Amino acid sequence: MTRLAIIGTGYVGLTTGVCFAHLGHDVVCADVDVDKVARLNRGEVSIVEHRLDELLAEGLRKGNLRFVVGAAAAVTDAEIVFLCVPTPQGEDGSADLSYVEAASAQIAKALAYEAIVVNKSTVPVGSTRVVERVLQRPDVRVVSNPEFLREGSAVDDFLKPDRVVVGCEDNAAAVAVAALYDAIRPHVIITDPASAETIKYAANAFLATKLSFVNAIAAICEGVGADVDDVMVGIGYDKRIGSEFLRPGPGWGGSCFGKDSRALLNIATNAGYRFDLLSGVIAVNDEQFDRVTDKIRVGAGGSLKGATIAVWGLTFKARTDDLRDSPSISIINRLLAQGARVQAFDPTVAAIKPGVPADVVIHENVVSATADADVLAVLTEWDDFRWTAPADVAAVMKGRHVVDGRNLLDRAAWQHAGFTHVGIGR
Ligand code: NAD
Ligand code: UGA
Repeated sequence: MTRLAIIGTGYVGLTTGVCFAHLGHDVVCADVDVDKVARLNRGEVSIVEHRLDELLAEGLRKGNLRFVVGAAAAVTDAEIVFLCVPTPQGEDGSADLSYVEAASAQIAKALAYEAIVVNKSTVPVGSTRVVERVLQRPDVRVVSNPEFLREGSAVDDFLKPDRVVVGCEDNAAAVAVAALYDAIRPHVIITDPASAETIKYAANAFLATKLSFVNAIAAICEGVGADVDDVMVGIGYDKRIGSEFLRPGPGWGGSCFGKDSRALLNIATNAGYRFDLLSGVIAVNDEQFDRVTDKIRVGAGGSLKGATIAVWGLTFKARTDDLRDSPSISIINRLLAQGARVQAFDPTVAAIKPGVPADVVIHENVVSATADADVLAVLTEWDDFRWTAPADVAAVMKGRHVVDGRNLLDRAAWQHAGFTHVGIGR
């Protein structure tokens, strides 16, 4: 059992805190959001994430997990402190380190003697040094331990990671951080801080590259009469390619791929390398939003002006309530800019909230969202959509066009109900 402090209780910090408590460590989590801390101490999870509520309740019940306001209050007894604060995109595309620096400054004096501070936030190469410089604590070691969890499966990803990466010049500190994960027996890669930080950006950029590649092949499939889903099964069986992360879609999004790709472009430029490949990956993704918007426009008869578009799905993927950098919102903004009216349903979005354009009419029912619509666009892969009967939609919708941006629906069933069904890459 190690005494841990977690700074920031967002998607990464809260998952890290409850999972380390589940593994038997003594965990104090801190946030600046007073309401959030109060709710968490009552066992109320503020985000949609499978199993978080269960593990939060377990930690509170066992008494080895608690929440406090302010970073300094959390660290006084901690042997190891995890920084899990945001690293948003700065004005020039680089990662904005101000939250990491502020949190480091807040804990500097309160840290126990010879504590270890761990960067779990996604930070550019050299950030370990930045934290050391802010802390001004020669007795404290700073370690990089990037996080690879996905939203929607954060707890499972944390407890069953493909690998744990630890970067530190000091081997004893690296081993102490790696040992926190002993109970789940992961593959551990111990390396220098610059390599650990680069591994995180390289992994996200590679995954984004894979998806832009899939969506580009999907565009070719449409031109040559191939079916991208079959093409991906065909290439995915090749072990060198792998079958995961090959689903075509309306473009990739989420809080990290966009900002991390742009941060890596910035890192590359500073390192003297023009990363044209990654610029292309981002450009292909922006084109994908345009391509899906065009499919909807064609379904509406060639113009979006005055058309009513029903959108199923607002979050950037299913099984989360996260709207940050959602492809659905990128496409909705294009629809609105071209004069469409948008009415939407998402299982986790009951009303307009930050991130959703104010002009969107939110429905609380999957079928009512399609009432009088000219086109239905499926932009997030929620199961609720897959199992909605096309006949129920046909009974209320004006048009008979479905643009299935996730290749989610049963095409034959929708065609049988009188709809044209346009997917991605087929
Ligand atoms: P988030 O916005 O969900 O949560 C950040 C939390 O930190 C917020 O609750 C905020 O109030 C709190 N905070 C900010 N400053 C603080 C301070 N000084 N003291 C205490 N609390 C403070 O962010 P996130 O999605 O969890 O991402 C955090 C980091 O992890 C980012 O660097 C991100 O790139 C990285 N990351 C995110 C994911 C993901 O799936 N979201 C996965 C891997 C890595
Ligand atoms: C991603 C990475 O997968 C994580 O390893 C990483 O830790 C995290 O970013 C991060 O650094 O924040 P996340 O953004 O939560 O995780 O979700 P993903 O499952 O990767 O999905 C990202 C986007 O790609 C979504 O818009 C999703 O719909 C899309 N996607 C994913 C596809 O279009 N097709 C796929 O086959 C997979």
